[in-house]
Amino acid sequence: MNNHWICDGVSHILERVGGAMKSETIDENVYLKLDRRETGDDTEVALRLFKKDDAADLTAAINNKKVIDNLREIPFPYTERDANEFIEAVLAADKETHYVFAITYGGKVIGCISALRMDNVHRQTAELGYYVAEPYWNRGIATGAVQKMCACIFDNTDIIRIFAAPYGYNDASCRVLEKAGFLFEGVMRRNAVKNGKVIDMKLYAIIQDK
Ligand SMILES: CC(C)(COP(=O)(O)OP(=O)(O)OC[C@H]1O[C@@H](n2cnc3c(N)ncnc32)[C@H](O)[C@@H]1OP(=O)(O)O)[C@@H](O)C(=O)NCCC(=O)NCCS
Repeated sequence: MNNHWICDGVSHILERVGGAMKSETIDENVYLKLDRRETGDDTEVALRLFKKDDAADLTAAINNKKVIDNLREIPFPYTERDANEFIEAVLAADKETHYVFAITYGGKVIGCISALRMDNVHRQTAELGYYVAEPYWNRGIATGAVQKMCACIFDNTDIIRIFAAPYGYNDASCRVLEKAGFLFEGVMRRNAVKNGKVIDMKLYAIIQDK
C-alpha cells in the first residue's frame, strides 16, 4: 500500500469490550459533518469514505511541497496515478485495522484523515495522520476533522489511545492536536529521516479513559 499515511479506512469492527459488544459503527455510508462553528464558514465540511473518482481532487490537494514535506516520504510531483493507487489500496485495506476518510468541502475532496490500528500489545492504539489542501488552511478544518475522527473511533471501536507524531518543525500540526485535546508526551529525538535530514518528532496522544 502506498503509505503516505498512517491510517486507513474502516468499517465493521466487532469487539467485546468490558463484556459489552461494540459493533460495527463506521459503516460504508459514514458521513460525519463538521460543526460550522468550527470551520467558520457556511460550506459543508465532512468526512466520508473515498470513492474511485476522487483521484483528481486528491491529487490537487496533496501535490504541494508544503503538504508533502510534512508527511512520510511520498512522490513529488504527486500524480493522479499515485492518487488512484492510494485510493485502490485504501478501498482494499483491512477494515478492522484501517480507518481512512476523505475530508470534503462542499462535496469536493480537499484532504484526508486516517488512523491505523497498531498490532500485538499495541492493538488498541491507533496512529493518526491528516492533511488539508493549502487554500483551506487556518479555517479550523483539520482541528474539526481530528475531533470528529477521534470521537467516531472512541465511540465505535475498542481503540483506547490515538497518537500522532508531527515532525518537530510542524508547528501548525502541533497546534491542531493541542486544540483537539491531545496532550504533548515528549520529543522523539532523531526519529525520522525526511528529505535527507535527520529530524525529531513530537508525540501527542488522546486517550479514552473509561
Ligand atoms: C497541519 C494542517 C493539517 C493544519 O490544517 P488546518 O485546517 O489549517 O488547521 P486548523 O485551521 O484547524 O488549525 C491550524 C492552527 O495552526 C496555526 N498555525 C498555522 N500555521 C502555523 C505556524 N506556522 N506556526 C504556528 N501555528 C500555526 C493556526 O493559526 C491555527 O491555530 P489557531 O486556531 O490557534 O489560530 C495543514 O497545515 C496541512 O495539511 N499541512 C501539511 C500536512 C501536515 O502537516 N499534516 C500533519 C502531519 S502530522
